Amino acid sequence: MKTIIEPFRIKVVEPIRLTTLEERRTLLAAAGYNLFAIHADDVIIDLLTDSGTSAMSAEQWGAVMRGDESYAGSPSFYRFETAVRELMPFRHVIPTHQGRAAEAILFSIVGGPGKVIPSNTHFDTTRGNIEATGAEAVDLVVAAAHDPDDLGPFKGNIDLDRLEKLLVEQGERVPLVMLTVTNNAGGGQPVSLANIRATAAIAHRHGKPLIIDGCRFAENAWFIKCREPGQESRSVKDIVRDMFASADGMTMSAKKDAFANIGGWLAVNDDTLAAAARNRLILTEGFPTYGGLAGRDLDAIAAGLHEIVDEQYLRYRVRTNEYIGEKLTALGVPIVRPVGGHAVFVDARRFLPHIPPLQYPGQSLAVALYEHGGIRACEIGTVMFGLRPDGTEVAAEMDLVRLAMPRRVYTQSHADYVVEVFEEVAQRRDQLRGMKIVSQPRQLRHFTARFEPLS
Ligand code: F0G
Repeated sequence: MKTIIEPFRIKVVEPIRLTTLEERRTLLAAAGYNLFAIHADDVIIDLLTDSGTSAMSAEQWGAVMRGDESYAGSPSFYRFETAVRELMPFRHVIPTHQGRAAEAILFSIVGGPGKVIPSNTHFDTTRGNIEATGAEAVDLVVAAAHDPDDLGPFKGNIDLDRLEKLLVEQGERVPLVMLTVTNNAGGGQPVSLANIRATAAIAHRHGKPLIIDGCRFAENAWFIKCREPGQESRSVKDIVRDMFASADGMTMSAKKDAFANIGGWLAVNDDTLAAAARNRLILTEGFPTYGGLAGRDLDAIAAGLHEIVDEQYLRYRVRTNEYIGEKLTALGVPIVRPVGGHAVFVDARRFLPHIPPLQYPGQSLAVALYEHGGIRACEIGTVMFGLRPDGTEVAAEMDLVRLAMPRRVYTQSHADYVVEVFEEVAQRRDQLRGMKIVSQPRQLRHFTARFEPLS
């Protein structure tokens, strides 16, 4: 088979400043070994997130110029609404400035003390917005999700038996059921169409709506096409429509699978819920035909939604991560398999077995990737999850480093460079040391904590 090439040409470029090893060592020390404190100009390959970092297309930039900034009734809104409803035909589409704003509005209405909200795995902002109302967020992902070597095709699925049990035992506390597609926190693993339909059936039998967190819906649909029996000859667009057909609403960050740099939405069928959401929207985001966005952003999203379901793009997109994953595996770098849709998750605890979890192997690896290659990745492990509200510390379930791939930004030679840096780091893995935290806030410490390498 021929190389799956980037299905685009490059018309506008941004220079990358190539730093030296010595420079990066100085920058790391000044940043307290926290990569969030590094200036983006000092990063060679930025894999911190795939969120808001997409390269927009010529069509999208053209749409930006078409954007209309009328306060009410802008044609940009109607183009946005039409584009969303072509894929996800919900009755009400409510724009927000990003995904977490949609979550905050939804849970300000349906959350509250005593409520329980199940999902396969809630993303941190979803969990945060649920907990901020006093409600409890419960993750019910299938057991295979916890085994990085289990090659199951749909490790993002929710455990239907546990969902049923929760609804039987505590149904009166559950206002809705959620599903995150793909399951970001679980390694970007997809949810099957069968699992979405079965989740909807269970939820509906108990009189509960199903709300899908659809951030990476197109990547999920591509996996369904490639992996789910009977789906291979269907178009991604049809699969997307089916994914949302049995749901009652969705939250969305357009910063992921809409190729936009900002934006999101809440969509629901329920008129009463929509009216309450729009009231809240006017207080916190803006009038319902712009919702915290400029008209030009709404047009960029509309154009992005047409492009994201392109199968040539999705084939290349998923292949990019697989390509890096295969090369890392060949180098003996343990990763979460199968590789997810938007990122490669490296198992730092297994890569650096001499560094105990409370000395942060994930942070140590992330720092080494920056030091040796100017690559910025994100620790998803004990630094992110290990601090309990009472100030004590526990090891996270896994110590991972996420290499999240911005959409349409990097080329195959950038991917090869990432692999080469890993090769260099792998050669000196025995010399990598753990880290200690010298200062940290009480919450979300990974953003601002300062570290020192242990000698
Ligand atoms: N849900 C999922 C599954 C996400 O991955 C994110 C963001 C959100 C909701 C929130 O959306 O950022 O627009 O407010 N994930 C980014 C990431 C930040 O790096 O994984 P947002």
